Amino acid sequence: MTVKDLFLKTPISKTISIKGWVKTFRANRFISLNDGSQFQSIQCVVDYENTDSEILNNINTGASVKITGTLVESQGKGQKIEIKVEKIEILGKCDPEEYPIQPKKHSLEFLRENAHLRIRTNTFSSIFRIRSSISYAIHKYFKENGFVYVNTPIITGSDAEGAGEMFKVTTLDINNADIDSEKKIDFSKDFFGKETNLTVSGQLEAESMAMGLGNVYTFGPTFRAENSNTSRHLAEFWMVEPEMAFSDLDDNMNLAEDFIKEVLRYVIDDCKEDLMFLNERLVSEDKAKPLKDRNELNLIERLNFVVDNDFKRINYTEAFDILRNSKPNKKKKFKYPINEWGVDLQSEHERFLVEKHFKKPVIIYDYPAKIKAFYMRMNEDGKTVKAMDILFPGIGEIVGGSQREERLEVLKERIAELNIDEKELWWYLDLRKYGTVKHSGFGLGLERLILFATGMSNIRDVIPFPRTPKNAEF
Ligand code: 4AD
Ligand code: MG
Repeated sequence: MTVKDLFLKTPISKTISIKGWVKTFRANRFISLNDGSQFQSIQCVVDYENTDSEILNNINTGASVKITGTLVESQGKGQKIEIKVEKIEILGKCDPEEYPIQPKKHSLEFLRENAHLRIRTNTFSSIFRIRSSISYAIHKYFKENGFVYVNTPIITGSDAEGAGEMFKVTTLDINNADIDSEKKIDFSKDFFGKETNLTVSGQLEAESMAMGLGNVYTFGPTFRAENSNTSRHLAEFWMVEPEMAFSDLDDNMNLAEDFIKEVLRYVIDDCKEDLMFLNERLVSEDKAKPLKDRNELNLIERLNFVVDNDFKRINYTEAFDILRNSKPNKKKKFKYPINEWGVDLQSEHERFLVEKHFKKPVIIYDYPAKIKAFYMRMNEDGKTVKAMDILFPGIGEIVGGSQREERLEVLKERIAELNIDEKELWWYLDLRKYGTVKHSGFGLGLERLILFATGMSNIRDVIPFPRTPKNAEF
């Protein structure tokens, strides 16, 4: 049985056996055993007088054991049930002198360096159970709402965002590659006969799929070689990208808000123990901070607040006016001053709007065309596009999306303006030639949503093996 089974089915007086890792061993008598199936460990009471000393000596934190015994109601405080141990087998020893994960509080930095072992701690096992629950809730939401799950390529010949921050994929010997007449590497000799990269977004291919399946979504790994060493950026992250045919920007914002709320609702219900633990962890962390830096709401209150309240929707121009007239802007507290319509919003501005001004998630839409991607639907004003970003407290941007430009001629103009080679996008333009329809979609960064759901503050702590600049260990 798993520990979770034991707590669910509580087969009192039955002989059961269970395998797991020792969390602690106290007084030569009490093993706290966990197998990852749930937050709470099971206490196993050892009859040490009748247990071989060789075995007793090897019941160390981190060791794997198989325990056979009888499940009984617990005599002690802190747990309802425990196992009266009849037999212990040491499956894998663990040298307590060498094992890095001691039964004490370690820093998150230290645990990142031991990412292969950090899953044995309470904090990380909770985070990764929540991550799993969120992923399930995402599929569940789309399945229940009639979306088809599609898989878009990871190796791609197109640069969806036009940002150029991509990882090259090649089989060429880069020290010995042939040079063409323009003194550039000759990619015609490469595996695919052309330059290819790891995808930055599945959107363009998802649009193609939506033009036959109606409503689709992708959910997969995405890669960006931007050199942003922040607590919000990964070089490899997971993105959820729904794409809906016959839908405009309003439909898109409605979907995104409903989707996020529904996923969080599922997690609040499915991960109670893990959330309670992370909540307590944050509350005690908060107490160590100066009053002004403390959170007004604890983690569980924050989650409930988002689920129960409408997101604030404002257009870029309204956001710009609020920011321009804001105290920090007037007192020159922003690193990037807000003075001219059209400037891109930085995370300091986004956080001001969300955390100080509205104190709730905010959707900003209708951004200036010149700070957004080529594929976004041009508005009648000729200056703004039907883009939308969702901003979250403590995180900043969690969703980026738009209604797509479905008019062939307008799209071609935009492509030309941005000096993108039209030939590269021939198939994307075909979608506008053959039965084009109004459509829209968005991308949600999975790890950013997990940051919010777990209250963690560094994105490296919510993906098992983070990939960031100068870091691809494990
Ligand atoms: O805003 P982005 O760049 O949008 C797109 O890629 C669109 N093609 C999506 C679409 O419309 N289908 O990225 C979407 C989201 C961001 O809001 C953010 O949550 C996340 O992806 N994201 C990252 N997460 C972690 N690390 C990074 N380097 C990220 N870059 C984007
Ligand atoms: Mg974005």
